[in-house]
Amino acid sequence: MSTLDVLGLCGSLRKASINRLALKLAGELMPATMKLDIAEWRDVPVFDGDVLAAGLPPTVASVRERIRRADGVLIVTPEYNFSIPGGLKNVLDWTSRGDDQPWAGKPVALFTASPGPVGGARVQYDLRKVLLFLNTHVLAKPEVFISMAGTKFDAEGRCTDEGTRKFVTDQMAAFERWIGAVAKMKA
Ligand code: FNR
Repeated sequence: MSTLDVLGLCGSLRKASINRLALKLAGELMPATMKLDIAEWRDVPVFDGDVLAAGLPPTVASVRERIRRADGVLIVTPEYNFSIPGGLKNVLDWTSRGDDQPWAGKPVALFTASPGPVGGARVQYDLRKVLLFLNTHVLAKPEVFISMAGTKFDAEGRCTDEGTRKFVTDQMAAFERWIGAVAKMKA
């Protein structure tokens, strides 16, 4: 079976981001047929329609192309003020433009991590709403919310919580099947 290339997008830029640790964890726990490549978007400018009209900034064009080439996209993000972090929303906005926008028909999985008790649950539904408009195929279940996330990784960034490891493993296995199902539907 050929490798499924999964592009990872993390909603946090912080070096010590728990969500980045969780995204890397997903890369370790995903089936052997899948390979995670994380896209960096730090240099994507704030969306401006005049800049778009003059031509896509190279950083945006690069992320856009990587989304297009990927077999699936995995988004792991914190919740900011009950919703999508502005930087991540900005990347979604930039890459959503044009008749050839790369999200259409793309299998997407998402999960969240937060030091709080609900694991960033509220942002997931805002993100699903945006991804619906982008015409993606978002994996519905299993949902993953990593609550009290600071207690689930050790100082070296390893996930020490068996429950979390199982939830992420199960979602990645479901994502592999989902990518296959979407491909069949499109064939
Ligand atoms: C937060 N945080 C937060 N947490 C949460 O569970 N619900 C929320 O609505 C918010 N809102 C929020 C807004 C802003 C602007 C910041 C900076 C933070 C806390 C957040 O979950 C925490 O900082 C995480 O550690 C951020 O994720 P990373 O950077 O560790 O991946």
